[in-house]
Amino acid sequence: MTFEPSELKKDFPILEDGKVFLDNAATTQKPSKLVERIQRFYEEENSNTGRGLYDLANKATSEYRKSRRTIAEFINAQSDELVFVRNTTEAYNLLAYSLQIEGKIVVSEMAHHSEQLPLRRKAEIENRDINYLPTENGEISLEAAEEIIDQNTGLVSISHISNVFGKENPVKDIIELAHENDAYVVVDGAQSVPRKPIDVKQLDADLLTFSGHKMLGPTGIGVLYGKKQVLRDMKPYQVGGGMIKSVRKDEVRWEDPPEKFEAGTPNIAGAVGLAEAVRYLENIGMKNIERHEKRLVREIEEGLNSIEGVETLTENATSLVSFTTDFAHPHDVAEILNQNSIAVRAGHHCAQPQMESLNIAGATRVSPYLYNTSEDVEKFLEAVETVREVFE
Ligand SMILES: Cc1ncc(COP(=O)(O)O)c(C=O)c1O
Repeated sequence: MTFEPSELKKDFPILEDGKVFLDNAATTQKPSKLVERIQRFYEEENSNTGRGLYDLANKATSEYRKSRRTIAEFINAQSDELVFVRNTTEAYNLLAYSLQIEGKIVVSEMAHHSEQLPLRRKAEIENRDINYLPTENGEISLEAAEEIIDQNTGLVSISHISNVFGKENPVKDIIELAHENDAYVVVDGAQSVPRKPIDVKQLDADLLTFSGHKMLGPTGIGVLYGKKQVLRDMKPYQVGGGMIKSVRKDEVRWEDPPEKFEAGTPNIAGAVGLAEAVRYLENIGMKNIERHEKRLVREIEEGLNSIEGVETLTENATSLVSFTTDFAHPHDVAEILNQNSIAVRAGHHCAQPQMESLNIAGATRVSPYLYNTSEDVEKFLEAVETVREVFE
C-alpha cells in the first residue's frame, strides 16, 4: 500500500475538522474500520466465549481466538504466548504478582509509573532490593546497567522506547546482560509496539507488554506476551471462571496459559477491535510508520531548536519530542496550543522520578503518529512561536 498520511486522515473522522492531534504517546485516534468492526461484532457475532454449544457462541469464540492469533503473529509470537489484559498497567501488575523470582529487581529511572510501581510494590512485599538504571542523553545507561545487573538480579524491566524522551533504549544489550546473569527480562513495549516492527523471537525478552489504545485499537484491551515456559511457571493472577480445568471442593486445576491468566468474561469486542487495528497497521507497514514518524520528529526537533528559549529534553529522538521553554510553563504552552486546535501533553508524563533527576517539574510533549503530516508540524511550530510572543 502507498502511504500518504494526508489521505489516511480521511479514515479518522475525529480529525476531519482540521484538528491537529499530537498526543499519540498518550492514546491514538481510531479509524472508522475499527469502529465498524466492533459494531459488526455486537450486531452479528456477540455471545460469551468458550462456554456455549450454539452457533453464536462458536462464532464469538472463533473470532476471539482468531484475534489472538492475528495479534500474536504481529509480534511473531504464538497464540498461547499472548495473554489479553486491559492495558500495560494491568500487564505489569499481573507479572509483578505472578512471576516468582530470586534476587533483586532492576528498573530504569525513566520507567513510566505503570512499569515501576507494580515492581516497587513487589520489592516491598517480598522484601527485595530494587535498583534504578540512570538515564544518559535520554537513554538507559548501558554502562550503569553493566555495573548494576549482576548474579543477584532476579528481574530486569526496560522501557523499549521512553514516553518522556522518545528514544529507543539499548534493549538487546540489556536483555543479553540480564540473561547472562540468569535474570528474567520484561520489556515495556507501550511506546514501541505501535510504531516499529517487533519480533519477540529476535528480541528474546521473557515478557513484553503493550496497550491496544496506543496503536489505533480500542481502550480496555492490552497484551502480556510471555515465553511459553515463563507463563507456565507463573502463578495465576485473578481466579474465577474461564481459567480452570476442573474445580472440586478439595482441589482446583488451572487451565494452561493463556487462559490461566484470563479469569472471567474477557473483553471479546476489544480483542476483535485490536486485531482490526493490527490489520490496518500491517496494511500500511510498520517500517513505513517508523520511517514516517522519524521524519516528522526530525522536523519537530529542528523547528523547536530554532525557536529562541526552547530546549528539548534530548536530541535525536525517534518517536516524540519533549521540551521546556524559558518563557512559559508547560501547561501554558499546552493551553495556547489547544486554543489553536493542537493537542499536546504537558506535565510529568507519569515519570516523576525521572523529572526529579532532571530537576524540572514537567515538560511539553509532542508525539506524532501515522496520520500526522508536515503541515501539522508547521502549525505546531507556528503555535509555539505564538506562545513565545504572548509571554515575552
Ligand atoms: C512507556 C509507557 N508504559 C506504560 C504506559 C501505561 O499504559 P496504559 O495506561 O495503557 O496502561 C504508558 C502510557 O502512557 C507508557 O507510555
